[in-house]
Amino acid sequence: MSKGDARERLSMLRREIRQHEHLYFVEDSPRISDEEYDKLFRELRSIEEKFPDLVAADSPTQRVGGTPLVTFDQIDHAAPMLSLDSDTDPDAVRRFDERVRKALTGQPVSYVAEPKLDGASVELVYRQGRLSRAATRGNGIRGEDVTANVRTIQAVPLRLRGDRRTVPELLSVRGEVIMQLEAFEELNECLIAQDREPFANPRNAAAGALRQLDPRVTATRPLDIYVYDILAITNSDIDSQWQVLESLRQWGLRVNDLSRRIQSLEGLLDYHRKMMECRDDIGYEIDGVVIKLDPVASREILGSTSHHPRWAFAFKFPPRREITRVEKIIVNVGRTGAVTPVALMRPVELGGVTVSRATLHNREEVERKDIREGDRVRIQRAGDVIPQVVERVAEPGRRRGPKYKIPKRCPSCSTPLVEKGPFTFCPNSFGCPAQLRSRLVHLGSRNALDIEGLGEETAKLLVNRELVRQLPDLFDLEAAQLVDLEGFAQKSADNLVEAIAKASHVELQRFLFGLGIPEVGITAGRALARHFGSLSDLRAADSVDLEEVEGVGPKIAEQIAGFFAEPRNQEMLNRLLDGRVELVDPVSVAQVESSELEGKRFVLTGGLELMARDQAKRHLESLGAKVTSMISAKTDFVVAGINPGSKLAAAQKLNLAILDEQSFVELLRSSGLEV
Ligand code: IVH
Repeated sequence: MSKGDARERLSMLRREIRQHEHLYFVEDSPRISDEEYDKLFRELRSIEEKFPDLVAADSPTQRVGGTPLVTFDQIDHAAPMLSLDSDTDPDAVRRFDERVRKALTGQPVSYVAEPKLDGASVELVYRQGRLSRAATRGNGIRGEDVTANVRTIQAVPLRLRGDRRTVPELLSVRGEVIMQLEAFEELNECLIAQDREPFANPRNAAAGALRQLDPRVTATRPLDIYVYDILAITNSDIDSQWQVLESLRQWGLRVNDLSRRIQSLEGLLDYHRKMMECRDDIGYEIDGVVIKLDPVASREILGSTSHHPRWAFAFKFPPRREITRVEKIIVNVGRTGAVTPVALMRPVELGGVTVSRATLHNREEVERKDIREGDRVRIQRAGDVIPQVVERVAEPGRRRGPKYKIPKRCPSCSTPLVEKGPFTFCPNSFGCPAQLRSRLVHLGSRNALDIEGLGEETAKLLVNRELVRQLPDLFDLEAAQLVDLEGFAQKSADNLVEAIAKASHVELQRFLFGLGIPEVGITAGRALARHFGSLSDLRAADSVDLEEVEGVGPKIAEQIAGFFAEPRNQEMLNRLLDGRVELVDPVSVAQVESSELEGKRFVLTGGLELMARDQAKRHLESLGAKVTSMISAKTDFVVAGINPGSKLAAAQKLNLAILDEQSFVELLRSSGLEV
């Protein structure tokens, strides 16, 4: 084949393949079989292989390419990506409609209503009709450059349809990257089969795939997109949202066809009702409807706040609810002594997860809702939080059990409970096994002393067998006391004792967090450690001194001062510091305030030569990264040392970003660490 012939054939094949991709991925109406498509695609690839200089960036073969990134670049959006004012209450929509009508003083009002897609918001920029970049929403002004990942989404055209007359020189659009439910379930099954963690919902799966550093991983994730807005455009006479959608569709972008033009408030409420009814049948998650004023000229009259436009409103669906039966009501005693009534229920599926416990919040709530054992109840999950019991579902004619009363004594230590407002507490902070159990787990948690092997079960055993009666006893444990415990053998007993010994050299900030001082989380722990530098200075501080610490207000200051003033706490601290725990200086870091590695997940595998693994872990954590032991699709980086073993193979299979030790050290240095 001559070069001239190749050029001609390539151009024909690309045009044809693009057309079939559009029909398949954007319009959902393929005209040829997969085999026929594959045949065209193979021919295209084989000609491109023979004539590499004829490969174009927007050729259908060029979706997946490039090398894994270390971090994403930040890029400015063509225009701010605003969010929306939202509510689940029809009255809020009524008020929105009233405001709009008032501002437009009697002019006819026309809206476009669209499904509110539950995915990840992105900006796509086309220059001369070619996809030139794509970014996440970020803070609305700047986002992360995810161009390479977005190119792998088949429903995103690399080239707009049309010619120079019909395609704008610059077009920036906004859309939502989603994962269809079927694809999501398949992906999760795959992950579970590989012993990896599944995603909690399609939104997380989509957002996670979009933020993969290696586009080859993104390419294996079944992402989809719908676009719904123009952020910037050159030479356009588009003057309404309806025209926006029509134009986007004409350029070959995927537009949701459930959008409607609506003139009245009743029409809007009706649309919302219909969408809620078909919510479970459309194959992807929507969490409400978005109402937009149609004519662009009218929008200008209403304007925007810095956060959201006044001409649009998100009318959200109420959180998912289900009905089930309460089998038993128990109380849970938390780490701080708070006693929470919990309903144990017949298991029921709620927004994709099976739920069998739901919180009844506090004494007042139980009384107000009058929930009793045996009752039928409506439960809900709002967002990703713990399920709640909303209300009792009446069953006329059924005899109900006796009224539920929160026990008078702590179920764990029998101490009389005390009431504070609507809440109930066990005041026996240091002697209550339930509190001690959670305190132990908290002390051993990753951001505190990080004691491997000290989970719920072990903490329960240690407390029940009275091997630990007070926190400091943990550090006096000997392997001989553990070997006979359920689930323990010589090796595991040795390991736990060793892990405790290792964890006993700890930085102040971790120690403070681990103590479980009321109101002191990771951030406050760090701020206190930085401010005072030593535990003795912190213990000597009064509320006024404490209020000088960043993020510590009068209430928190009082709680902290109160904690250190309590004689039983003083005694506990003295015992801890008496040869049991040693406070060490933080790893030598020029603490980087906001690091590029913040939130990134690392897995360390194999032997490291330049630093101890522990130290590597501390370095990463000081930069806000997380170190986990299991490779999963959520892993951002794998650091492979000597003899890395099966984790490296798993990482390669998943096409994760793999660093050797030298590159890892360079990465730490480039993040501001002196290593
Ligand atoms: S319009 C100014 N339309 O909902 C216009 N947003 O805060 C703002 N969303 O994160 C957005 N479906 O990503 C619009 N059909 C739709 C949408 C939609 C989902 C998301 C958007 C934003 C959130 C609202």
